[in-house]
Amino acid sequence: MADDLLRYRSQFPILERSTYLISNSLGAMPQAVYEALKGYADIWATRGVRAWEERWWMLAAQVGDEIGALMNAPPGSVSTHQNVTTCQAVVASCFDFSGKRNKVVYCDLNFPSVMYFWEAQQACGARVQMVPTDDGITVPTERLLDAIDDRTLLVPVSHVIFRSAYIQDAKAIIEKRLHSREANFLTVLERSVFLNTLLYRKGISWTRLLSDLEKVMPPNVRVLNIRPYVSGKNQITLDLTVGAESPDAVNPLYTALESSPLFGGLFQPTFQPPTQAEPLYRYRVTVNYAQKL
Ligand SMILES: Cc1ncc(COP(=O)(O)O)c(C=O)c1O
Repeated sequence: MADDLLRYRSQFPILERSTYLISNSLGAMPQAVYEALKGYADIWATRGVRAWEERWWMLAAQVGDEIGALMNAPPGSVSTHQNVTTCQAVVASCFDFSGKRNKVVYCDLNFPSVMYFWEAQQACGARVQMVPTDDGITVPTERLLDAIDDRTLLVPVSHVIFRSAYIQDAKAIIEKRLHSREANFLTVLERSVFLNTLLYRKGISWTRLLSDLEKVMPPNVRVLNIRPYVSGKNQITLDLTVGAESPDAVNPLYTALESSPLFGGLFQPTFQPPTQAEPLYRYRVTVNYAQKL
């Protein structure tokens, strides 16, 4: 066989001894993991507790951004966790099941531990509607869509079913979810109004914030995204994503932020290389911002 992908086989030691088909669960370990784990242990051994703030706190976000780049997701939008069930629990913690809109809909081909988790949410008021598969292989999409109504709060589904590799019609599910009610949009709108109200109460002006940022921004660096958090009295923390055409272009920004009396507590920035969708080097910077009133 002259398949170009065969050159990667040697990077997975277990393939020398077995035919390994598990890719949905514990995949074949890449050779590079030996070095990566050693690197992790070395940091622990040499930096001790300082490793958290120097490297590890932001590592989950950094890995999330690297995975996000593979699926064209914007930086800061992919969050990594210990396992799939924990991810579902994190999502569930954002919702309140005590209201009228408390239904959770999925097919019984979802992964078992995930289903156990959602079933347990019934104790918090969730109503679970599990749509049964007919053949143990495919998801009856029409019946799943019919189960999604105005009282549906969540539709936690696997894009690919672990048991059969069946690919769910995620687009149809999302569209049904959006059309069943405009609540999704309302939630987002409510959040941004809430954030602006907080900023307003603190007396922070967006115009001033943008003009202060302009003063520290080098000419060849662009702000791609700003997310402010209110973190103290008259102080906000900015979660900034900036883009630059070359990797060094962003260095003057760090120097300017560090020497400016308005900014402080610059957190170790994370970095993403250019992609086809976003041809700039992207840096995510977290910095405190104390606007003079
Ligand atoms: C598709 C899928 N979903 C969910 C899980 C559950 O993972 P965990 O029990 O680690 O949360 C697995 C585990 O292999 C899986 O393959």
